[in-house]
Amino acid sequence: MDAELGVIGGSGLYRMPELTDVEEIAIETPFGRPSDTITLGTLHGMRVAFIPRHGRAHQHSPSNVPARANFWALKSLGVQWVVSVSAVGSLREEIAPLDFVVPDQVVDRTVRRPRSFFDESGLVVHVTLDEPFCPELRWALTQAAIAAGVRVHDRGTYICIEGPQFSTRAESNLYRSWGLDIIGMTAMPEVRLAREAELCFALLALVTDYDVWHAEEEPVSVSVVLERLHQNVQAAQRALSALIEYLRALPGRCGCRTALQHAIVTDPAAIS
Ligand code: ADE
Repeated sequence: MDAELGVIGGSGLYRMPELTDVEEIAIETPFGRPSDTITLGTLHGMRVAFIPRHGRAHQHSPSNVPARANFWALKSLGVQWVVSVSAVGSLREEIAPLDFVVPDQVVDRTVRRPRSFFDESGLVVHVTLDEPFCPELRWALTQAAIAAGVRVHDRGTYICIEGPQFSTRAESNLYRSWGLDIIGMTAMPEVRLAREAELCFALLALVTDYDVWHAEEEPVSVSVVLERLHQNVQAAQRALSALIEYLRALPGRCGCRTALQHAIVTDPAAIS
């Protein structure tokens, strides 16, 4: 096993400076190349594999991130936990810019991203997503964010839009009326692929803006997102650093590791 923890860094998080004993590896997968070379390094005694989701030169738009290659590569390195760090907008007054959210639910509004490893495999696979994030990893990540000294919301529903454009005000208000909490462009298909790969997956969402619904706040723009990310990316690094201790305490009783056990259709008569 090369690594235990995988980290997918979003906008603003292109490297993990705290890693020691670092090596860069290029991996080729059946789904092509990952977003960039993978950095393997040690953090508080644990081997970590880091992938910058958009590439170090930010060359992959949310629709073009090679998510299947990223997850394949992490799985092939022996990773069990994957933490994805992403910028999000807030759809709630009480979730403010610079807060962190560890979401417990997700709504998928993406329309043109490959979402399964099994498309051309000849297998029919239906994994369960009632609890889309690993509850144990969410707990560890929440504790780590608290230890990093940030305001953290330990649940929330994330809506993933296709982008690359931000939403219209009517869309933003619609998502609010649906009771959704945060909005971003990258949680999907990561959630689906992590479950198919039997990996524990959780998301550290860094709130950068109030999207476009808020009457008093500036509407979201790239410059707003980048400025706020710049302000809280160090807190995200602190949270990742604090996470290791909590990972070691996890009992490993979640169902993530056996997600495929009852998911593969073998007898056509068994499902209709
Ligand atoms: N990423 C950061 N802020 C966002 C927003 N308001 N909508 C979609 N993705 C985002």
